[in-house]
Amino acid sequence: MEFIRFSDLCARGQVAGQRVFIRADLNVPLGADGNITEDTRIRASIPCIQMALDAGAAVMVTSHLGRPTEGEFKPADSLANVAKRLGELMQRDIPLLSNWVDGVDVKPGLVVLLENCRLNPGEKKNSETLARKLAALCDIFVHDAFGTAHRAEASTYGIAQYAKVASAGPLLAAEMDAIAKALSNPRRPLVAIVAGSKVSTKLTILKALASNVDQLIVGGGIANTFMLAAGLNIGKSLAEADLLPAARAVIEAMKARGAAVPIPTDVVTAKTFAADAVATIKAATEVADDDLILDIGPDTTARLAAQLMSAGTIVWNGPVGVFEFEAFSHGTEGIARAIAASSAFSIAGGGDTLAAIAKYGIEKQVDYISTGGGAFLEVLEGKTLPAFEILQKRAVG
Ligand code: 3PG
Repeated sequence: MEFIRFSDLCARGQVAGQRVFIRADLNVPLGADGNITEDTRIRASIPCIQMALDAGAAVMVTSHLGRPTEGEFKPADSLANVAKRLGELMQRDIPLLSNWVDGVDVKPGLVVLLENCRLNPGEKKNSETLARKLAALCDIFVHDAFGTAHRAEASTYGIAQYAKVASAGPLLAAEMDAIAKALSNPRRPLVAIVAGSKVSTKLTILKALASNVDQLIVGGGIANTFMLAAGLNIGKSLAEADLLPAARAVIEAMKARGAAVPIPTDVVTAKTFAADAVATIKAATEVADDDLILDIGPDTTARLAAQLMSAGTIVWNGPVGVFEFEAFSHGTEGIARAIAASSAFSIAGGGDTLAAIAKYGIEKQVDYISTGGGAFLEVLEGKTLPAFEILQKRAVG
């Protein structure tokens, strides 16, 4: 993927004294009291800001926070707590500027945070007037917000169209590189794990991966629908009967390419969905009408783990069982440990996946953990994200 890397501009000395506008994704979760409950995205944004400061730029940073109504400021939409946290982490004062669209006063070597960009009228619809004003604020635009790379808004797309220079920041570039390594030029076999409660929410992903991956491991409620499609009884487990033809089509598409969707051969069942429900391991052919399948069984886990151990590339999205309940967590733990032990290049993303990675403490063994939620899923769907598209376009002309 061709795009201008901000790090290259810095290395070539093209950033000193320039006005640099960084679009970060500082959309962090907040508690009921408005305090930040998890600051990974703020930490992940610091290398780009520091890079710009070290290169001698006058630095402006903005982000959205939540989904406020444009033009209607409410204290809950403010980046004030983000500015404070960023300042603590960078050990410097980071002023927060409001009403900044028509001009920003910042000197080289300093950084300011620009209030929630989704408060600006025209942001969401990518108004050309707003985008041109944003572009006029800077000499160099840096897109470093992978979490927002699937949105074409004024501060993510329009500004990249009109800025003198539009580049990818280190976080966005790392995501682009990892995605290309995993999906465009993968070391094979390429194994994808797609799990979640419903086939319907991930059908586009399953279809897109069916034409690329060598093994498509399905888990959670998605696996139930695939088991049903394979003629197995799933008792009263969650499944989508109307999507059986779609599941069969995925299985057939994989088979036609000499690839496979491994169907569980054993499962862990319970009679109720509860943390203290009695867990019973049984063959996939023995599921009773009043059973709920809450995890894959030990034989299936061992078989999938072996496939992951011999994979060249692994893409992981979603835990394969109800890993929040101890008795039904062993499948996900087995998969997580196999990914950690495998020499494959591994990339993971999506809310629950990150929770599983944290639970089993394998952050350092996964080669790349995406900061994107919706953006990561759209990549798996095979879509070209607007951020990637415009940065590529700007790199060539
Ligand atoms: C996210 O939290 O996934 C990103 O910040 C994007 O937010 P959005 O879905 O409100 O555009």
